[in-house]
Amino acid sequence: MRKNFHQDHDGGAVLDLRCAAARRAIHLPDLPELSPEARQMAIRTWRGRMINEHISAQVWSALVGQLLRAAIPPELLAGVAEAVSDELRHAELCAAVVEALGGTAVARLPPIEDVPDHSDVGALEGVLRNVISVGCMSETVAVAVIRTEQAELDGTALGEVLSSILADEVSHARLGWKLLGACAPLLDAGTKQRLSAYLVDALAHQIEHEVPMLPILGAVDPNAAAAGVCDGGFARSVFLDTIEQVIVPGLERAGLSASEAWARAQARTASLLVA
Ligand SMILES: [Fe+2]
Ligand SMILES: [Fe+2]
Repeated sequence: MRKNFHQDHDGGAVLDLRCAAARRAIHLPDLPELSPEARQMAIRTWRGRMINEHISAQVWSALVGQLLRAAIPPELLAGVAEAVSDELRHAELCAAVVEALGGTAVARLPPIEDVPDHSDVGALEGVLRNVISVGCMSETVAVAVIRTEQAELDGTALGEVLSSILADEVSHARLGWKLLGACAPLLDAGTKQRLSAYLVDALAHQIEHEVPMLPILGAVDPNAAAAGVCDGGFARSVFLDTIEQVIVPGLERAGLSASEAWARAQARTASLLVA
């Protein structure tokens, strides 16, 4: 029987989703003929997505425990546990694409930082920092970026895969904003001030994490583009627009000083933002 989890020789975890990919087998009848280079690039792209989705499942699962410790009302918690299984399903769908492209849905997991518990502040304030960072920022960015990629693949089998992932990412982003909206009226001025200060780190982290994942490739071979390989240049502008037009105004509505935090985060990461 094939093992579907193991460790490599130096103790790093290796994610093996070949069985899951077989269970969710995807057919790509409309995929154009790919050169060997374009095929490898597409496999790397979807394997990278597979890893990111698996990491998203770990992040949401850490939030489940933190939200429970903060005694968040149960009616707000239901979607959080669902987000974990959604992300695991996304990883499996990306694995199925890797295998459909002729690749192997096996990847060594990169070192993953623990989701911080922010023990310097109370349980509610600490988990709200993570809700803002994960739901209001990362998931909101994911919606915009995946929507852009999905538009390129509209009407194709790969477009269908991205559409089903996108629908879940929309609900994850909404969940983040709903949690923040429910808690914001309960926060005193001091807590809002500390959360506003935290936004600088959280926004800078978005840039440090997202920008390197959106490499500017220039013109992408049209066949590679049909297999889901995107130039990061356009996605970068979508990312920045999403922060400025959606995330910062949303955080301001919750009573946080997000515009000022965004200006400071951009100043801190200026070297990364130069194309
Ligand atoms: Fe996802
Ligand atoms: Fe998500």
